[in-house]
Amino acid sequence: MLWMPLLNALDVKSCLGLLLISLLAFDFWRSKNAPNFPPGPWGFPFLGNVFFGFDCRAMDEVAAKFGNIFSLRVGYDKIVLVSGYEWVKEVLVTQGDYFLDRLISPPIKDVFKGNGISLSSGYKWRKQRHFTAFHLKAFAEGKNALETHIQQECIYLCQSFEEQQGSPFSPHDILNSATANIIGCFVLGKRFDDNFTDFQNLLFNSDTFLENIPQIQIYNAFPWLVKRFYGPHKTILANYTKLTAFIKKQIEKHKKDWDPFDYRDFIDTYIGEIDKRRKDTEAAFTVDNLACITVDLFKTGTQNTTDTLQWALLLMIKYPDVQKKVQDEIDCVIGKWHQPCLADRASMPYTDAVLHETQRVGNIFSLTAPRLTSRDYALAGYFIPKGTLVICNLSSVLKDSLQWEKPDQFYPEHFLDDQRNFKKREAFYTFSAGKRSCVGEQLARNILFLFFTSLLQKFSFSAPEGLEPRLEDQEQVKTSHKSSQMCASLR
Ligand code: HEM
Repeated sequence: MLWMPLLNALDVKSCLGLLLISLLAFDFWRSKNAPNFPPGPWGFPFLGNVFFGFDCRAMDEVAAKFGNIFSLRVGYDKIVLVSGYEWVKEVLVTQGDYFLDRLISPPIKDVFKGNGISLSSGYKWRKQRHFTAFHLKAFAEGKNALETHIQQECIYLCQSFEEQQGSPFSPHDILNSATANIIGCFVLGKRFDDNFTDFQNLLFNSDTFLENIPQIQIYNAFPWLVKRFYGPHKTILANYTKLTAFIKKQIEKHKKDWDPFDYRDFIDTYIGEIDKRRKDTEAAFTVDNLACITVDLFKTGTQNTTDTLQWALLLMIKYPDVQKKVQDEIDCVIGKWHQPCLADRASMPYTDAVLHETQRVGNIFSLTAPRLTSRDYALAGYFIPKGTLVICNLSSVLKDSLQWEKPDQFYPEHFLDDQRNFKKREAFYTFSAGKRSCVGEQLARNILFLFFTSLLQKFSFSAPEGLEPRLEDQEQVKTSHKSSQMCASLR
């Protein structure tokens, strides 16, 4: 009878074994790829490639093994990753209409409710994007309003740099505030003042879902599980609620003295639209949407523009000969005392080329947010079923050796022709491309030009003694650049 407990134990073990085999078989069946689906690395049972580092370097490594089109599995979601100019162009531009939508995944639904521009889809996205793009353009072109605001901000920016008296400092927060002030002028009709510090703190220091890719993956894959626990997603949600609460207060203030014959800013214009589009419920012109778009513009616009400017200054330190050439061009075209204006750009091909090359090398926005395919699609001979997520590696386009003469070097000549005139490049995908490309491109380009030329007109930039700017490792720079120190000496 001694063997009876052993048998019982074996029974339990066999049952568990059988259960495990059934679960694995179910997982295998659920995660099976469609025929001719792009290949990809092995993933853990049930989890898939949830721990894959979603950055351009990790993507380059996998692409080197599986080719420019490969797939990953996150939970039971399939993601196709596309690299190289040829295929990224096909996805974003040539066949872009089939890759426009975002996945309204559980975290996005919980936080943004499908509102805003970056994370909305379909008819609602089209209407909101079109409206915002139209007014951003009008702001950029109308009565020189934008140029005057940026020029005014350049004066404050230079004052803040001068206050450092040539000592080492990190320009990140100063640049961030200056950029946020320009977006503030567009959205709220004014620069930030001391009352806005809470909002600015939240804006600059709070993460978004887009920055926390591993957390999104886990939330996307197991929303029912993650929702129950405390985690970064709860902090993101709480911060987002505070940000929109602040904006909603501003909207209420605007409503009190709203004048249909005198729109002061984007909020006033949008309030007018809410009234006009009341019947078009699908387009969703609502206060909630306005708050979400406002946060979208501040968050996306400020961060990317600041990161680019920071890169530009670090590159000037690393390449003093380029800094000198930019300053010579500024002295020659603008002079030492005139304030730079947008019309100067046409006569400053070298400075324009340096800014473009900074964006190419800086590679601030290396991966597009995931797009959802709206129909079955054949890409490079692979089959991609409707409803698959697709991410494009913009970095691989900006470093594509078939497109760029010196892809891994800082080489402003990429944007100059034989006569040293500015030359546009097809593969300059730093703002992405196609219908879902950056809505603030023009605004960003204007801010970059005026801030950069104003700073280099007045200051020479150098590294603090004993410190070299670290630019080799892009991710390293991204994480540490907030605290990158530099010296700005009056010229
Ligand atoms: C140098 C600065 C900037 C860079 C490098 C940049 C880059 C990008 C890129 C690559 C995308 C496409 C993302 C994707 O396909 O997933 C994008 C989208 C977007 N950008 Fe920018 N951006 C910059 C400045 C701005 C500014 C100043 C604003 C607004 C004031 C802005 C607002 C947006 C919005 C709202 C979207 C979403 C568009 C959509 O989904 O339809 N960006 N940006």
